[in-house]
Amino acid sequence: MQNAASTTLPPTGSGTPGDRAFFGHPRALATLFFTEMWERFSYYGMRALLILFMTSAAAEGGLGFDNAKAGAIYGLYTAGVYLFALPGGWLADRLFGQQRAVLYGGVLIACGHFTLAVPGLFTFYAGLVLIVLGTGLLKPNISTIVGQLYSATDERRDAGFSIFYMGINIGGFLAPLVCGYLGEEIDWHLGFVAAGVGMILGLVQYVAGLKHLGRAGIMIPSGFEPAAENRRRQQIYRRLAGGLVAMAGLAGLLAAGWLPLTVVELANATLIIIAGFAIACFAYMFAAGGLDTGEKQRLGAIALLFVFSWIFWSGFEQGGSSFNLFARDLTDRVILGWEFPASWFQFVNSAFVILLVPVFAALWLRLGKRQPAVPVKFALGLLLLGAGFAVLTVGANIAAEGTKVGLGWLVVVYLLHTCGELCLSPVGLSTVSRLAPARFTGQMMGLWFLSISLGNLTAGQLAGKTETLSMAQIFFWVFVVSSAAGITIALFQRPIRRLMTVDP
Ligand code: PHE
Repeated sequence: MQNAASTTLPPTGSGTPGDRAFFGHPRALATLFFTEMWERFSYYGMRALLILFMTSAAAEGGLGFDNAKAGAIYGLYTAGVYLFALPGGWLADRLFGQQRAVLYGGVLIACGHFTLAVPGLFTFYAGLVLIVLGTGLLKPNISTIVGQLYSATDERRDAGFSIFYMGINIGGFLAPLVCGYLGEEIDWHLGFVAAGVGMILGLVQYVAGLKHLGRAGIMIPSGFEPAAENRRRQQIYRRLAGGLVAMAGLAGLLAAGWLPLTVVELANATLIIIAGFAIACFAYMFAAGGLDTGEKQRLGAIALLFVFSWIFWSGFEQGGSSFNLFARDLTDRVILGWEFPASWFQFVNSAFVILLVPVFAALWLRLGKRQPAVPVKFALGLLLLGAGFAVLTVGANIAAEGTKVGLGWLVVVYLLHTCGELCLSPVGLSTVSRLAPARFTGQMMGLWFLSISLGNLTAGQLAGKTETLSMAQIFFWVFVVSSAAGITIALFQRPIRRLMTVDP
């Protein structure tokens, strides 16, 4: 992490307070909103098909994997997508700036989906790798640019991230409908093509709207002499090449079966490696990042929030894993004599986000300076998550007695979880973009995404425990841990707030 002399611009608030062209927010937010909407359309559209495609028989055009293998690939893929946000953010800080990183990421993602659209095992894995790399470049950096539209004291920041979050979920809502239908009903590969086309639409829109972004996400010159600048860049390219070679080597070892790890062991090892890496990154920035006292305090605050974010996503992301099993096995899904597919519950979260974002955005805006402080919003998020798990514990206990529960149970849980998500997730992105030391904005966002990556992995591991523990037991313990976490952060909100102070 040296060479910090070359940096992106600090959050300049390039969308000046007077720019209110998009729902009271800078016009640039519209460009980022629609880019991310299409990126998430492609991500969730493909994700809706992924496990079905892997597990369906070759005769049906699928890959014919067993559930364990498919599940492991699914878990490692979803964790990988957010893991690579870290190198993505790092590269944006040092080489591209966020604006260009988003462009390159989008191109890689589109290539990934079109690669998946070509039948064959090699194209399948290659497509997944391209999407992981592309999302690592796009997702954290587009969030960083959103943050740069607001000055550190602009009260619209949290509301801006909430609006941005709405774009995410419009994409997430439409995707399973379009890609899911095409993939499941017509041809898997057509579903992947649809995801790729979505990303292309997003890219066209992004390039057309670049002019609105102004200086947000642009690299400033490093100030080095050309020769020194060349050396700096070459060093980065060498590290990049080294990283890619190491990754290819690891993939080769795994593919050849020379790393005798079970999938579960691989997931456990990955968890430890990611967590260790996150600790090392925080420690490095703290000790050797050249930060002043205020910046160190804010870094400490982000590190604390990181832990709570991990806990939150470990519960929340079970929406795709154990809740799916709950929907399939323990929920009565018959409406008017017809049993709808378990996977339809995947829409509920996005639908609630779309309905509730305007409510939350208006609420934060109206409360202005009186709105709850960030740690309190985190506490609310975790308590709502816990409340959802409490409801589900009761539901699972009832169902354990042999009667399936009504679909209202899961709907209520998703409602609670979505409210929790809206208290915590956009606020987390917004806070990291505001508190990150200016030199590290991109990689700080990448580091933040590691908490989400860890959460995805833990959520998968917890769902895997349904073989040894009852669902009710798992849900109960998640309820206990998330509620305890919520109470803890609420109790310590004052000292955490003190760490977060930014001089205007
Ligand atoms: N549903 C959210 C999204 O796709 C989950 C998420 C939040 C992922 C924050 C990364 C960061 O954006």
